[in-house]
Amino acid sequence: AAQPTLDVLSWLDARVKEALVECYGPELRDAPSLVTLATKPDFGDYQCNVAMPLAKQLRSAPRAIAAELSAALRLDGVCEPPEIAGPGFLNLRLTRAFLTSELGKMLADDERCGVAPAAPAQRVVVDYSSPNIAKEMHVGHLRSTILGDTLAKLLEFLGHDVLRLNHVGDWGTQFGMLILHLRDEAPAVLAGEAQLELSDLVQLYKQSKARFDADEAFQRDARAEVVRLQAGDERSLSAWKALVEQSEAAFRQVYETLGVDPRLQTRGESFYNPMLPEVIATLREASLLQESDGAQCVFLDGYKNREGAPQPMIVQKSDGGFMYSTTDLAAVAHRVKVERAQRVLYVTDAGQAQHFQQVFEISRLAGMVPEGVSLEHVPFGLVLSEDGKKFKTRSGETVKLTALLDEALARARADVTARLQAEGREESEEFIAKVSHAVGIGAVKYADLAMNRNSNYKFSFDKMLSLSGNTAPYMLYAYARIRGIERRVAQELGGEGGVQSEEGAVKLLLLEDAELNLARHLLRVGEVVREVERDLLPSKLCEYIFELSSKFNQFYESCPVLQAESAEVQRSRLALCQVTASVLRLNLGLLGMEALEAI
Ligand code: ARG
Repeated sequence: AAQPTLDVLSWLDARVKEALVECYGPELRDAPSLVTLATKPDFGDYQCNVAMPLAKQLRSAPRAIAAELSAALRLDGVCEPPEIAGPGFLNLRLTRAFLTSELGKMLADDERCGVAPAAPAQRVVVDYSSPNIAKEMHVGHLRSTILGDTLAKLLEFLGHDVLRLNHVGDWGTQFGMLILHLRDEAPAVLAGEAQLELSDLVQLYKQSKARFDADEAFQRDARAEVVRLQAGDERSLSAWKALVEQSEAAFRQVYETLGVDPRLQTRGESFYNPMLPEVIATLREASLLQESDGAQCVFLDGYKNREGAPQPMIVQKSDGGFMYSTTDLAAVAHRVKVERAQRVLYVTDAGQAQHFQQVFEISRLAGMVPEGVSLEHVPFGLVLSEDGKKFKTRSGETVKLTALLDEALARARADVTARLQAEGREESEEFIAKVSHAVGIGAVKYADLAMNRNSNYKFSFDKMLSLSGNTAPYMLYAYARIRGIERRVAQELGGEGGVQSEEGAVKLLLLEDAELNLARHLLRVGEVVREVERDLLPSKLCEYIFELSSKFNQFYESCPVLQAESAEVQRSRLALCQVTASVLRLNLGLLGMEALEAI
């Protein structure tokens, strides 16, 4: 069975804590160890900065503390004896023997690359994508879909039990006016006898809104329709279902093109409708409700509107209707109680930060959330057009996602065809279609994921499809190139199909600096994945593989593989190629991209 590699960062953390207790007593058991990655390669691989802040507390010189810790640290051959630097840093360098044996484990574990599963595993709900019925899915939903899908994959890879939920906006007062309007304009649609394009549905939605705003009688009827719908009236419900189905068919098309995990389960706002009265009752019992202008509200300290007046969360309007927030409170309760979630992630635009803060706080105050359960908003910035403005078509309309993805595919195909032609290659239509899809869709996803999600990003086809820089095409080519090298060497070695991956079969020789540097970086993969598990920033995976490919290039330039000086060295270098390819494939997979063997 595959053996996981050591999580060096947390292992060092534990060793420093031990040394602290040994040197200065049990009071220091909970002191932070301040072990980090080295800020410069000159400082080694890791550094420990604990001596400086301790100096005052221990009334001693930081360098003296560093020396005492250094003597007490039991590094078991993982690191060279520490070096004391500057005011009292401890510089830690992994030993060659340790790197060699860890890389051996990675070589034997093509699938997980030595990354240990999380212990304990958690039940995690990831709420993502979540578009709205009868509206176009916009680029914000695209971001949520891509980010959420990646986070779900990563958490699942670490062994967590992940439930993917699509909190579709399929409920609310807008459906009253929409159904009413469709009864006049398109009765066959409501009867399920005719299909509407989503864009027509959106048009009809806009018209119904205009009618609602202009016509009082229509307004009254629409409200009555909502009441009928929410009370479960057959005729209303079946009309509503027809609408939902048509929108969802359009969403599914986008998901399919994007390759979103099919286990993403639609559980829209309507699902929680029967639970809403109970939410109000719970809030009332917890004495959190207050009436304001006929509406039921929860006032929390610290939430103010622009004028500085207290900003409550409204949970029930004066006409009895419930709100987006009421549904979210019901969803928290359901996810925690019925789904037994220990961690719930909400992937939405940063504009909803305050909404979620309030929902989390209120659900805790109301006793809906047991201790130890973590509710986390995973916010992201806006998608802007290249000129930094709102992302719109030239005529000022919202960009349709299907059109956007189609364009990415068409551009990728043009790029791929041109490149094949330049290389004088003739490939089958099947090959071209496959590569264009991987490049085009990969480019859209990667461009989104490579950005720190908290920032706004500018959507640029030219940039995301560029062959240079931290882009999908670059990474896909990097992977295919390594696979190509492996194939050629394997041929040379007599068609063995690569080095054997059982442990001990290959003797890894990390002789050159470039080999050591590559090995060090490869070994960090687990650390990076676990970091993303905590801070939910997939951009760190992209940074990591981008750096990996540059480390690989340095290695490949200074350490010939095809022309290696001996068969032994060649085998070892081929093994490094293999581990690099596996680590790349693993990361691309987590990023929702397909690593192609040839491109
Ligand atoms: N439908 C919402 C929107 O389009 C997103 C829902 C996010 N999830 C949630 N539980 N509120 O903005």
